[in-house]
Amino acid sequence: MGYKTLCFGLTCILLAYYIYTPIPENIEEPWKVRTIDAAIKITSFMATLLEKIGLKRFDELFSTIMKLDYTQPISDENVTVMDITFNDIPVRLYLPKRKSASQRPAVIFVHGGAFVLGSCKLAALDLLNRQTAKNLGAVVVGVDYRLGHQYQFPVAHEDVISVVKFFLQDKILAKYGVDPTRVCISGESAGGLIAATVAQLIQNDPEFKNKLKAQALIYPSLQVIDITIPSHRENEHGLFLPKKLGIELACLYLTQDKALPQAMMKNQHMPHGSRHLFKLVNWSTFLPEKYKKNHIYTEPILGRLNPSYSALLDSRLSPLAVNDSQLQNLPLTYILTCQYDLIRDDGLMYVSRLQNVGVKVSHDHMEDGLHGALSLMASPFNLQLGIRIKDKYINWLEENL
Ligand SMILES: *[C@@H]1O[C@H](CO)[C@@H](O)[C@H](O)[C@H]1NC(C)=O
Ligand SMILES: *[C@@H]1O[C@H](CO)[C@@H](O)[C@H](O)[C@H]1NC(C)=O
Ligand SMILES: *[C@@H]1O[C@H](CO)[C@@H](O)[C@H](O)[C@H]1NC(C)=O
Repeated sequence: MGYKTLCFGLTCILLAYYIYTPIPENIEEPWKVRTIDAAIKITSFMATLLEKIGLKRFDELFSTIMKLDYTQPISDENVTVMDITFNDIPVRLYLPKRKSASQRPAVIFVHGGAFVLGSCKLAALDLLNRQTAKNLGAVVVGVDYRLGHQYQFPVAHEDVISVVKFFLQDKILAKYGVDPTRVCISGESAGGLIAATVAQLIQNDPEFKNKLKAQALIYPSLQVIDITIPSHRENEHGLFLPKKLGIELACLYLTQDKALPQAMMKNQHMPHGSRHLFKLVNWSTFLPEKYKKNHIYTEPILGRLNPSYSALLDSRLSPLAVNDSQLQNLPLTYILTCQYDLIRDDGLMYVSRLQNVGVKVSHDHMEDGLHGALSLMASPFNLQLGIRIKDKYINWLEENL
């Protein structure tokens, strides 16, 4: 951690006195959570300011700060770590050192960051993938796909597909001693959306001879069609990922035109001719009663945005919005959702939709969960919640992969 990070951290602690979000009673380590939340709010405020005066694009300040947390590929006594490329896409590869009599399982990991931020090199994710490799004796591939705004949809998706295609070749699996019947794709947040999309593609495309054994989605985003589902309403000003921040960042994957995030905030972004998709993401149908509370279903409003974006109809941005026939071949699935998460209901709806078509799903719901906690396992911003999420995920892999 650099000097700058420390200064930033201290500034945030001071400013935390002034910025106060009421937080739910069951949140663990409330003081730390408030501090991290204040840091995000201050960064967001400064990023908006810098953009307004024309110095930096909105995402650049976030990106600069996150880069301070990137790690080098350092091997330890249990795992060999290296940065290489698969099909010209940078990946961080984790190879267990312990000899294995049988072939190894493998995990392909897709990081989050709203398609515009982040890396598998973040300290917390490096720790996660390292521990996965060690505990499971698995080969782990962290994918550093190209990010928006520079590379717009579907570049990030295609980079991950390209890596998966490369890795699933018989000769590559053999090279790393991987059992072709024991490969999982995992992703968190926006990376969960990409992972879910890639799983649908692989399982339904005869071109892929080697299929996935499992997918693991951690607080995934799974649709961009309806932005007024109950979790959006309940957590609009929630901790770590307020609605405006999530939308402003994610929209950069499609455009720098501010009209899109503005329309999305009002749920008026979908183009004419997309109404047939609503029933596939209808929370009133797919959410368990417990989460519907007293919310009243309202349909997104069509055709208000000019120009319209055809990508918004693309199932690669909304893997929740596909027909049952595209879901029924999906592999064993792990989904982790967090109670106080803007996009909680995306995950909850996917659990229902997959179970409805007979896909075997393990679901963990963190009653005190916050979005992004998995990236908050390394100092100075480490949360016990992140460690609990990591342990649940790795335990599931140990038992099921
Ligand atoms: C390597 O594995 C051993 C045995 O599980 C453990 O005690 C040790 O802490 C591990 N080393 C690292 C760097 O994680
Ligand atoms: C959404 O679900 C509710 C309740 O199941 C239903 O009344 C409504 O017509 C549905 N709307 C769409 C667009 O699917
Ligand atoms: C779902 O199936 C219907 C009819 O089978 C088809 O018209 C529609 O295009 C499909 N939708 C998607 C998103 O694949």
